[in-house]
Amino acid sequence: MNLKKPIDVLIAESAESGEGTLKRTLSSTSLVALGIGAIIGAGLFSLTGIAAADHAGPAVTLSFVLAAVGCAFAGLCYAEFASMIPVAGSAYTYSYATMGEFMAWVIGWDLVLEYALGAATVGVSWSGYFNKLLHEFGLEMPLYLTKSFAEVDGGGINLPAVVIVSLLSLMLIRGTKESASLNNILVIVKVAVVIIFIALGWKFINPANHTPYIPENTGVKGEFGISGIAAGAALVFFAFIGFDAVSTAAQEAKNPQKGMPIGILGSLVVCTILYVLFAHVMTGLVPYTVFKGDASPAATAFKVTGYSWLQMGLIIAILAGYTSVILVMLMGQSRVFYTMSKDGLLPKFFSTIHSKFRTPFKTNIFFMLFVSIFAGFVPVTDLGHMVSIGTLFAFSLVCIGVMLLRKTDPDRPRPFKTPLVPFVPIMGIIVCVYLMSSLPLEAWIRLAIWMGLGIAIYFLYGKKNSVLRNSGNTVKPVDPPKPEL
Ligand code: ALA
Repeated sequence: MNLKKPIDVLIAESAESGEGTLKRTLSSTSLVALGIGAIIGAGLFSLTGIAAADHAGPAVTLSFVLAAVGCAFAGLCYAEFASMIPVAGSAYTYSYATMGEFMAWVIGWDLVLEYALGAATVGVSWSGYFNKLLHEFGLEMPLYLTKSFAEVDGGGINLPAVVIVSLLSLMLIRGTKESASLNNILVIVKVAVVIIFIALGWKFINPANHTPYIPENTGVKGEFGISGIAAGAALVFFAFIGFDAVSTAAQEAKNPQKGMPIGILGSLVVCTILYVLFAHVMTGLVPYTVFKGDASPAATAFKVTGYSWLQMGLIIAILAGYTSVILVMLMGQSRVFYTMSKDGLLPKFFSTIHSKFRTPFKTNIFFMLFVSIFAGFVPVTDLGHMVSIGTLFAFSLVCIGVMLLRKTDPDRPRPFKTPLVPFVPIMGIIVCVYLMSSLPLEAWIRLAIWMGLGIAIYFLYGKKNSVLRNSGNTVKPVDPPKPEL
């Protein structure tokens, strides 16, 4: 029998306080910063150039708009859930209430791809910029310490990526408030650099670089023209991943009913505006063809402004930006496993709270090791594809969940309501499935293997140990959705 967790139980659990629980320390501003912290990173600073050079030309700005619209559909669904069920665990928790324990497990397990592997992916990009910084100072690390053996001949381990992931995991153990304060500073630095780039670069835009704005399709699908804009959107989708990380912190928000929708939608809106302007300036500074194969296109474009003294600052700010993405992703991951463990689906180990710091420190240590292995040894493209497919899968399930809960529990107060249901969730699903279909077959195979492993663990461990299943009075079978009249 598939069980769903009654929402009243969820809300009561989230209201618990005191020792052994998470602390409510995050204001709405901190939540928006948390969202922006997880969002602006490798997607903007590294992928914009590739998307312009290979797919969309200057119209990469439209790719950003398209990806943002897709995310907005999912974001609106997330906001309804997050304000209504303000409990740590994000999409996992919402699924438990709407689609039952099995689907909740599936999504919780899937979120590892988004958060843990997301942290690993950005860790690898961080390492790339770190080496660039060393290079500026005339220093070089040997290849076997900077790249994985799976990425290049002569490579070994990506040590800088492992080090940054480990340091941030230790920071998270130290405390949520402390981590949020660090995050706020990092967010200010990275938003400042984006704004400086836009403001200083604007007057150097050469209209010739923007002509034609939508380069003609080469005859191959996805290479410029309208299909190129769509292909670019699938790539820069990565730049939006993370807005949902806000919802993992619902249990630490001071006023989650108000803070959650503001945090999720606010960070999405701010980032979209910045992305479009940034991409517009970047493709205006130099011809987009220059970005082919360039891992640091922002730095390349900025050179034409003549502000070369800012070059170093740009690299440092980008490193700060990546750091905040890794931080929030690692935090989101630990909160999802914390919640799954509280529910008995994972061993108690994952929900042990540190007596002094009040953080789930064992989970942080576990993921410090897990993420380090991926960051140290797996090529960045493989990681990126896994993150995108896992995230899109989670977004689709959240969209389905919103529609289900409107039918099974229509009267429950919803501090924030997704507009135009079922249009918005259905559009969310269509966009996610479309973007998933553009990912390579290997990503699908890896997703299937990862999910197969997760399902095996559920039947061997989670199902038997489920708190809900073993607790008698809160057990409630899933009501099938009532047909619409
Ligand atoms: N959105 C995050 C980034 O672009 C994952 O780095």
